[in-house]
Amino acid sequence: MDRRAFSQLLTLGAAGLTVGHANGEAAIAAEDAEEGIAPAAGANGDLPSSAVAVDDFIELARRNLPKATFEYITSGSEDEVTLRDNVDAFRRIRVLPPLLHGIEDADLSTTVLGQKISMPIMLAPVAVLRMAHPQGALAAARAAAEAGTIHVAGSSAGHSLEEIAEAADGPKWLQIYVPADRDIASRLVRRAEQAGYRAIVVTVDLGERKDADLRNRFAPPKEMLLKHLRDIGFTQLTEQNTYDEILAFNASAWRISLDAEFFEWLRKTTSLPILIKGVLSPQAAKQAIELGLNGLVVSNHGGRRLDGMPATIDVLENVVEAVDGRLEVLMDGGIRRGGDVLKAVARGAKAVLIGRPQAWALAAGGQAGVAQALQILRDELTNAMVSCGCSKVEEIDASLLMS
Ligand SMILES: Cc1cc2nc3c(=O)[nH]c(=O)nc-3n(C[C@H](O)[C@H](O)[C@H](O)COP(=O)(O)O)c2cc1C
Repeated sequence: MDRRAFSQLLTLGAAGLTVGHANGEAAIAAEDAEEGIAPAAGANGDLPSSAVAVDDFIELARRNLPKATFEYITSGSEDEVTLRDNVDAFRRIRVLPPLLHGIEDADLSTTVLGQKISMPIMLAPVAVLRMAHPQGALAAARAAAEAGTIHVAGSSAGHSLEEIAEAADGPKWLQIYVPADRDIASRLVRRAEQAGYRAIVVTVDLGERKDADLRNRFAPPKEMLLKHLRDIGFTQLTEQNTYDEILAFNASAWRISLDAEFFEWLRKTTSLPILIKGVLSPQAAKQAIELGLNGLVVSNHGGRRLDGMPATIDVLENVVEAVDGRLEVLMDGGIRRGGDVLKAVARGAKAVLIGRPQAWALAAGGQAGVAQALQILRDELTNAMVSCGCSKVEEIDASLLMS
């Protein structure tokens, strides 16, 4: 893949750009995607309430979205081995609850990096949420605030970090990729501080290549890509620029070769907690510790990046062991049930994040859909904790799991 295509994938997760937008099919896909900005999401207010499990949102989302947008959200890279494994690995873990535990209710609240949240479930950063629903990340931020949890705003979500910050009072973290221009990076961090973000999450697992997106010639509409880049700080780009010019600019705007130096610089630049997202091994976890970071997210980008990487729940325990309490460990990938959350916490995660369930629920019912998805997971986790005799999150441990 050429650098231009890769870079596009990096910042918006979109594929299909290898064909170039001037190609007729790509133009049609762009129109389809345009439709995706204003799906009939939430038109039927009853839609979200028919969901009893987060996977029920899949069909509701499918109905509301153009095929290319739905598949962009739902698919994984190449053969989708990692995507499937993320989910299946949870199914392989058995829980063995104690008998006669005497617990009737559970307090799901916990803390991450010293911030109190009502349950160990957070919203993961998701690019182009505006294609799932017109309110996009604004609706997700509101749903998270309502649920008392953290929304990790994606810097590619389709709304600026300030717009997202203003949308809701809840605790927010900002996820970024690494801009090639250090001044832009510096300004992004300052803006995040000023807008009240409480942590910076730097995503390092790069290289999305998904067959579905290539087949669909999926591409973000010009307007969305332009807004995204202007929101990042590239205000020299305007409507006058052609789509090709914007694509070319975007291709050179991001650092795709990552090294420790960026994190050293970032550590000196901000006093906000910094997390690295994309850790899968004890070695990587040790690097994060050496860099003086505050947390890490065990993540394979939901199986959207390099196919064949391990399921996150399968590597979590080794990472937690290597970290040995020196920084906080979060995880994402494949969380579809409250019981999955219990398993992840039992293996040492402080909290989990949800990506696709958030996007499906958003497409199905906007803010109310995301709120409902979070409520379903909360209810399932409550049930799992009570069944396991855990009245508090800190009481969840590996002794509950058969391995
Ligand atoms: C449509 C979509 C777009 C995503 N965009 C981003 C992004 O911009 N930045 C990022 O760090 N992760 C991104 N992710 C990955 C999520 O943050 C998260 O790691 C992943 O979705 C977790 O797996 P799950 O979908 O099984 O919950 C995206 C995921 C999806 C589904």
